[in-house]
Amino acid sequence: MFYFGGDYNPEQWPEEVWAEDVALMRLAGVTAVTVGVFSWAMLEPTEGRYEFGWLDRVLDMLHDGGIRVVLATPTASPPPWFSLAHPDALPVTADGVRLTHGSRDTYCASAPAYRDACRRMARELAGRYGGHPALTMWHVHNEYGTRCHCDHVAEAFRRWLRARYGSLDRLNDAWTTAFWSQWYSDWAQVLPPRATQYLPNPGQVLDFRRFVSDELLAAYIEQRDVLRELSPGVPVTTNFALGGWVPIDHARWAREVDVVAIDHYPSATGPAAAEQIALAADLARSWARAAGVGWLLMEQAAGMVYTPGRILAKAPGELVRHSLGHVARGSQGAMFFQWRAPRGGAERFHSALVPHAGPASRVFQEACTLGTLLRDLSTVDGDVVADVAILWDAQAGWAGEGPGVPSEDVRYLDAIEAAHRVLYRAGFTVDFTAPDADLSGYRLVVVPSLYLVSDAAAARIGGYVASGGHLVVSFFSGIADVDGRVRLGGHPGAFRDILGVRVDEFRPLPPDEPVKLSTGDSGQVWSEHVQLIGATAVASYTGGVLDGSPAVTRHEFGAGVAWYLSTRLDDPAYGRLLADAARAAGAVPPQPGIEAVRRGSWLFLLNHSDEPVTVPAAGVDLVTGRPVDGTVEVPAGGVAVVRPPGFV
Ligand code: GAL
Repeated sequence: MFYFGGDYNPEQWPEEVWAEDVALMRLAGVTAVTVGVFSWAMLEPTEGRYEFGWLDRVLDMLHDGGIRVVLATPTASPPPWFSLAHPDALPVTADGVRLTHGSRDTYCASAPAYRDACRRMARELAGRYGGHPALTMWHVHNEYGTRCHCDHVAEAFRRWLRARYGSLDRLNDAWTTAFWSQWYSDWAQVLPPRATQYLPNPGQVLDFRRFVSDELLAAYIEQRDVLRELSPGVPVTTNFALGGWVPIDHARWAREVDVVAIDHYPSATGPAAAEQIALAADLARSWARAAGVGWLLMEQAAGMVYTPGRILAKAPGELVRHSLGHVARGSQGAMFFQWRAPRGGAERFHSALVPHAGPASRVFQEACTLGTLLRDLSTVDGDVVADVAILWDAQAGWAGEGPGVPSEDVRYLDAIEAAHRVLYRAGFTVDFTAPDADLSGYRLVVVPSLYLVSDAAAARIGGYVASGGHLVVSFFSGIADVDGRVRLGGHPGAFRDILGVRVDEFRPLPPDEPVKLSTGDSGQVWSEHVQLIGATAVASYTGGVLDGSPAVTRHEFGAGVAWYLSTRLDDPAYGRLLADAARAAGAVPPQPGIEAVRRGSWLFLLNHSDEPVTVPAAGVDLVTGRPVDGTVEVPAGGVAVVRPPGFV
């Protein structure tokens, strides 16, 4: 059975509304709701005084209604009494401003009082509800991702650094502290990157990001272990927020959860939203698979998202299509933020499955349609298989955007998104893979702007190509070692031999000043002087300082092929290049012209266009219930899920 439901906040409503909630959940086919995410103040109104009566009634009521409960620990939003009693547990910005309670996420994850309070709360909840029959999953906290720069953090950062480097000498070396007289003679001098005069040390900034991810992970693990101890057998997770601001290494975190759960709010509408969904789902599936667990879309919007200055509403039909976009790519369901729209509070205009207008609304009707559909799809199972992969490494992204890089316009997420987007548009299903993963199952591996890479990972990538793999690497890759220090002898240091090129000069491009290429395409953002040391040029720069020098190259390396892109191609040209490389590598796109994804034996077809699309298929369309004999027509904005013939 798929998870279908959303964040449910009964504490915001009088109890009379609860019965209607359960009746409407049953009507919509809701199977599970997430309870308690922001309930700390209602569960522990003053320090040490717990009020669980209302939550007992909520869980019993949901159980009686046949709705399962994903029970959250409410630690993302400590109540006012907590911050007043423990002012040292309020976060401090890099500028030294200590924040005040009044919003959410206002805590310092390194403050002992906060960590103790979180463990206590997890213990109380697990002790009371660990065996409740409605409980299906634990949901620790909400979207870990806060930062603090206070003295507790400074101490924890130093502990983390000691464990990483062992000695100050090693740290001084890794951070190149001989530069600008930053050399440390005592651990006590080492601080988080607080506001300073000019550019901070890039090694310090990179390690702080690594530390924040590990420190928040330690806070999660403490709660998880309490829940596992008192509530054995119930899966534990936490919902991952996605986006460049999130200081979390999700691939690393995925190894510590029983289910990878993501929240996904596209920052665009229309087809661009569908592309973002495919990317988020492919990331989640890949993190989960590498960790040997499943994954679930824990939050998405039912309609409008409250985003200052931007309107991000969903068009009719998208609630269903977006949900199936995730399910097609392996999600164990489609959950929403939120069940019922609140009357007040900062997110009172955020959409919900039950909007302010109530159930007599388009959104609620679509929710009912989705509930029925997910029930009809209950046999869907199996994994998604891709023969093209994009290499993803959060830490490389952090390092490549650190202080003092040659171009602020080289953004890691942009590079990842562009590679994924053009492959998606060409019809390829894509996995993400990690620098330390086995690449041998992929026909083509794309490496976008991987600034930092270890020697071991570079050797593994070289071995993949040497034994017949196909590789496409884009500019600003292989530049630095694991400490973020530049590799010498010409760029892209770690990949020079594999790519058969040597770069002796970067020439980042100002915004809107493209360079022309011999193919008639143009390059943006970046250019560089490439020398061939074995590769052949397939496109050259035309005009300007780089006139005639290679821009795109191809190198036969061992039994494989390695391409290099020294500039950012526009989407159509990049798409052509990757599709050609993929085809040459033997990858076959399943079905261009529509979003087509095979999950196990089931073929998901999502039509994001305004025209019907006809696709070859055979079996039964589980959406219409009709047999499919050779072709299926997917209506404009519609979906089809074809079960193969002979399925029992
Ligand atoms: C999520 C968060 C939810 C809600 C939602 C609004 O990031 O987990 O609590 O704030 O955003 O879009």
